[in-house]
Amino acid sequence: MPDIKIIPVLTIDGPSGSGKGTISRKVADALGWHLLDSGALYRAVGFAAGMEGLDLSDAEAVTRCAQTTRIGFRDPKDGSETRVIVNGLDATDDIRTETCGAAASAIAAIPSVRAALFEKQHSFRKAPGLVADGRDMGTVIFPDARFKVFLTASADERARRRYKQLKEKGLGVTLAALLREIQARDVRDAERPVAPLKPATDATLIDSTGTPIDAVVTMVLALVRSPRRADP
Ligand code: C5P
Repeated sequence: MPDIKIIPVLTIDGPSGSGKGTISRKVADALGWHLLDSGALYRAVGFAAGMEGLDLSDAEAVTRCAQTTRIGFRDPKDGSETRVIVNGLDATDDIRTETCGAAASAIAAIPSVRAALFEKQHSFRKAPGLVADGRDMGTVIFPDARFKVFLTASADERARRRYKQLKEKGLGVTLAALLREIQARDVRDAERPVAPLKPATDATLIDSTGTPIDAVVTMVLALVRSPRRADP
């Protein structure tokens, strides 16, 4: 069997609203690599737990839910947004709500939930390469990744970006509430004992505050294409 470790991985970690999702998608498309949206997995489990009416602090029940929830990704032929299918239901829009984001963040703090999603995340590592978007991609899931980026932006700018995104989807939110939610989620994600949000020691830090998305994409692509880093 070919050694999976020779398949290159680019990890893009960072807080919510840092532009990771859009940037990861654009970089994956430009490279022709696969994409893992690990946040969508946590959101999908949060969604499934909500559908089952589980108490999110019941670690045993939520872990069982993480182990049994069927999560699929489908790319429509017209190139539109990837659909996220949870237990046979198209949950693409549901999982993007702030309620689901908060549920994801709560269940993501449970070590056995993270363990339940470990193999699933590794299964995305396929030739010719993988762009892995998340919080712990470079630190825990793919510590051997050849390329690592830690992307951030000020909380104000991240709230504004999320506000625009959610408005475009027709979801009712206020900027002030989003900023509060983002700050609370940052603290929870950074302070949890298991897989906290932090840059890998070998990650390249990029602050995207005030930088257009396409300029960040160019920076990330330059990192992957730089001859010094491209060789194992
Ligand atoms: O990236 P996104 O905002 O979709 O992630 C939702 C939540 O899932 C995050 O706030 C975080 O708590 C959790 N998450 C995680 N580890 C990842 C990806 C997401 O803990 N690799």
